Amino acid sequence: MIGPARSDELDAICVVVQAAFGRRDESLLVRALIADGAAALSLVARDAAGRIEGHVLYSHLLATSEEGERVTAIALAPVSVLPERQGTGVGAALIAEGDTACAELGITLSVVLGDPAYYTRFGYEVEAARDLVCAYTGPHLMAKALGDAALPEGRVMLAYPAAFG
Ligand SMILES: CC(C)(COP(=O)(O)OP(=O)(O)OC[C@H]1O[C@@H](n2cnc3c(N)ncnc32)[C@H](O)[C@@H]1OP(=O)(O)O)[C@@H](O)C(=O)NCCC(=O)NCCS
Repeated sequence: MIGPARSDELDAICVVVQAAFGRRDESLLVRALIADGAAALSLVARDAAGRIEGHVLYSHLLATSEEGERVTAIALAPVSVLPERQGTGVGAALIAEGDTACAELGITLSVVLGDPAYYTRFGYEVEAARDLVCAYTGPHLMAKALGDAALPEGRVMLAYPAAFG
């Protein structure tokens, strides 16, 4: 079952994130993004007993068109599933629910850095990120217009939260 993370679940989430990646870096990123107020949405997946088995975080991006107009954008990162539960659809459910929830928050653009073989399953495209300008521009940067929104036209400058640095 997917639902919003409670504020008292951060330690349990970080255990899952660290186990998924097999190192601490991404759990420290999650902590920093939440501490900095950069997180837009934090969702957990729970097993039948209510234990957290997966997590996804979405963070606010400062996105600006060349005309200086703001684009409401978020960064999807990181997605984490306990190793023993990987490959059972938990990650897919987290991303599907998370993208829908972000659209309902009025966010029009989601950006992810990762393996296109995975994220294209959810509508993310490398081509859609072609005009996004940021430190991660390249073959692993993907974007997706959320809900009924269209992709922004022209170049869009993205500033990631400081914790990504
Ligand atoms: C990546 C991750 C979130 C996917 O979640 P999951 O619950 O295991 O994935 P799902 O069950 O929804 O989907 C499984 C499918 O995705 C594929 N897949 C999983 N990780 C993948 C990756 N990094 N690249 C390409 N394909 C991947 C699997 O091969 C499987 O393919 P199949 O459906 O053809 O059998 C999870 O495996 C994980 O936590 N990995 C370690 C942390 C990580 O790399 N996070 C992503 C970077 S932010």
